Formats: sequence, structure tokens, C-alpha cells
Amino acid sequence: MASSSSSSSSLMIVRLFFLPLFFFSVNATAAFDDLFQPYWAADHFSFDGDAVNMKLDNFSGAGFSSKSKYMFGKVNVQIKLVGGDSAGTVTAFYMSSEGAKHHEFDFEFLGNTTGEPYLVQTNVYVNGVGNREQRLNLWFDPTKDFHTYSILWNQRQVVFMVDETPIRVHTNLEHKGIPFPKDQAMGVYSSIWNADDWATQGGRVKTDWTHAPFVASYRGFEIDGCECPVTTADSDNAKRCASSGGWWDEPVMSELNVHQSHQLIWVRANHMIYDYCSDTARFPSVPAECEHHRH
Ligand SMILES: *[C@@H]1O[C@H](CO)[C@@H](O)[C@H](O)[C@H]1NC(C)=O
Ligand SMILES: *[C@@H]1O[C@H](CO)[C@@H](O)[C@H](O)[C@H]1NC(C)=O
Repeated sequence: MASSSSSSSSLMIVRLFFLPLFFFSVNATAAFDDLFQPYWAADHFSFDGDAVNMKLDNFSGAGFSSKSKYMFGKVNVQIKLVGGDSAGTVTAFYMSSEGAKHHEFDFEFLGNTTGEPYLVQTNVYVNGVGNREQRLNLWFDPTKDFHTYSILWNQRQVVFMVDETPIRVHTNLEHKGIPFPKDQAMGVYSSIWNADDWATQGGRVKTDWTHAPFVASYRGFEIDGCECPVTTADSDNAKRCASSGGWWDEPVMSELNVHQSHQLIWVRANHMIYDYCSDTARFPSVPAECEHHRH
């Protein structure tokens, strides 16, 4: 008893000590270690100034996860994807909750042979069900430089962004009876792995291990969200985070502005190569949320 109360009071001191620091640093780019930790193959990481490199070789892929979980907010990370021959590899950046009825917001970068374009696949899982893939190519070579990939999540929408250009919006249509993810805290993750059974040109091109290691680089880690202690029930976190007063809940954030809407129209017209909403072979009756898409 005595020892448990003394450890809880030292925990209080730690919390009080870190609190001002937390508020101060919330908008600044954080170092990797402040927010994330390797969860798979720590020996496949290397650190180079402010950049973190994660490699896939014929022994293992690798992955990192956030130390905390969040409900609503915005996550940014800058990624420079695998250069040269990346065929067969997938690099993912995503948010996910846990359990059979989990929610998930995914960016998956599908590698390609040298000189052929990477594809970006996005997906949204709600209550454990995905099958909402969209695919696009990018308007730049994502292996040459770092670019910022972001997920904005609030009670009205989930927005996927590339260098602040929206590429996908998943709108809250609960008023139409369509479930929207807003009741489970999510972690932030990234991983690189071998997916040559499907990733490149439908699985026809296999990973060429003579070109390993395949290295993705990261920097500019930012998480600005409502942090959810793992010791707190999801329902309590949901209540608190629904009224946390974060900037992501400001009325202007409830939908894209006019400029962003135009950007999304441009992306869809010029870069989208697959949208589950228009795949009538796969979905003879259009998925419910697609009928209400404005774009
Ligand atoms: C790879 O390149 C081919 C040829 O340009 C293209 O058809 C394909 O969509 C690209 N991406 C993937 C992931 O296969
Ligand atoms: C991994 O690849 C290297 C280089 O191509 C090769 O020498 C080694 O035998 C491979 N190891 C395994 C376990 O396949």
C-alpha cells in the first residue's frame, strides 16, 4: 500500500513537470523519440540527423508506432519513399484503433520498378470493415524528396492530405445512418514490408532482393491531437475529446474550404486511377457512403 501510494505521487510529479512542456511543444516538430518508438525490428532503424530510416531486407521489414493514442486531431509526417527499384514493397502510414471492430485510416505506398510511378492507396476501416480503397499516382516523384503526408480527423470528416492538398475526404454521414469513426482512440503507425504477392502491377512484379535493403526515410513528426491515456476508457476519452476545444474542431474545419475543394477535384480528375465507389463489378450496389459523396 505504502509503496503504491508513493509511486503514484512520484507519477504526479512527473506529470506536473511535463505538462508545461507538452503545451509549449504541441505545434512544433517533435523528435521521433518524443512521439514514436519502433514496434517491429528495432535493428532495422537508423538515425541520421533529424531523419529516421527504416529498412526492409530479406530478413525483416520494420515498423514504428506512437507512444500515445489519440482521438481527433492532425498527424503529419514527412516521408521520402524507397528510391530506385521498390517493386514488391509497401510502405504504410496509418492511424488505427485496436480490436475486431477497429477503425483505421491508411496511406499505403505501393512500390514499383525503377522509373515507374509509385501508387498511393488509401483506405478507411470502420468497425473492422475496410474495402474502401482509392488509388492515385502523385504529381511529383515521392522518392526524390521528403513530402508531407497528413491525416486530419475531427467529428465531421477524415481528410487525407499530401503536402496539404486534400486527396480524400471521408465525411461523417451519421445523419444518413452510416457509422463514422469517433468512439475509439487511435495510434499512429508506419511500417515497411514485402507485399510482392499483390503490391506491384497486381503482384506480377516480385521483390528483387538483390536490390535490398529498401529504405524509407522519415522526419517532421507532428501530432496535434487529443491525447487519450490508455488507462482511461474509450467512452470517457470520447466524451472529453469531443469537447476538447482543439483547433481541428473549429467550424471552419468541418468541411473543405473552397480552395481545398478545387484541389480535391483536380486530384480526382488528374491523378485518381481507382475508386471503390465506381467499381460496380466489385460492388454491384454502390456502397452507402458513396451515394452521398459530393465529389
Ligand atoms: C507501376 O508502373 C506501372 C507501369 O507504369 C503502372 O501500370 C502501375 O500502376 C505502377 N504502380 C504499381 C503499384 O503497380
Ligand atoms: C539475403 O540477401 C543477401 C544478399 O542478396 C544474401 O547474401 C543472403 O543469403 C540472403 N539471406 C536470406 C536469409 O535469404
